Amino acid sequence: MQKNTSWDKVGDWYKDAVGDKGHFYHQEVILPNVVRLLKLNPTAKLLDLGCGQGVLARAISKEVAYLGLDLSPNLIEEARKLDQNPIHKYGVADICKELPIKYSGFSHAAIILALQNVAHPFKVFKNLAIHLNKGGKLVIVLNHPSFRIPKHADWEVDRVKKIQYRKVDCYMSPLEIPIESSPFDRINNVSTTSFHYPLSAYSEMLFDNGFVIEKIEEWVSPKKSEGGMAEVEDKARKEFPLFMAIVASKK
Ligand SMILES: C[S@@+](CC[C@H](N)C(=O)[O-])C[C@H]1O[C@@H](n2cnc3c(N)ncnc32)[C@H](O)[C@@H]1O
Repeated sequence: MQKNTSWDKVGDWYKDAVGDKGHFYHQEVILPNVVRLLKLNPTAKLLDLGCGQGVLARAISKEVAYLGLDLSPNLIEEARKLDQNPIHKYGVADICKELPIKYSGFSHAAIILALQNVAHPFKVFKNLAIHLNKGGKLVIVLNHPSFRIPKHADWEVDRVKKIQYRKVDCYMSPLEIPIESSPFDRINNVSTTSFHYPLSAYSEMLFDNGFVIEKIEEWVSPKKSEGGMAEVEDKARKEFPLFMAIVASKK
């Protein structure tokens, strides 16, 4: 049986965390850069997979036709509430299975912080190969797969050298990592799952489904520290990107 990776059970928390305009990283880093990379013209048709509460739909220009799909009914209901645009549509769907849409012909697609939450990313690319036009553009945003592997990557400080560095204890092996919302609260604790793959695995999955990688960008956090360690922390923040964006096109 396929694992249910929907964020429905953390939907109320995610709705508050993201709100109408997105959380801090959506607003300061992800959405402006995704809009820049997508380069949508008014006749574009955008497919957003793992759309959550549709935060990307509200960041693009109003003339662009948009379809957002997500496995969480709770988040899709919120997306519909927040978006009155008649050419924006939403649906509940497992993006790892055959998509419940007749219409193909999308010029653009996006997967924002969702590919690492699905059990079968290969099948997501297979779906995109069906529904994107030839030459169609795909923008993927990942938590950086080399530096941010949940429970396997963390900051360490070397007080002698006065540096903060990233410790990574594994990378090449695919991993399925449960993320608990409140590990010390047995009643309210719920978990989501994060799936790790090395960058080469994503490259191969894209290649095998007829996509060409055009560009990879790495985005750092714009946050600034305060206090005695501020200089060390700010330097490390600039060295280790939080997010990776992959821009690919369908052959
Ligand atoms: C971190 S959230 C990102 C949501 C949105 N893209 C954003 O940036 O706010 C990950 C999303 O992936 C969705 N998801 C997980 N597995 C899925 C699947 N198999 N099919 C469709 N959506 C899925 C979750 O329900 C959740 O909304």
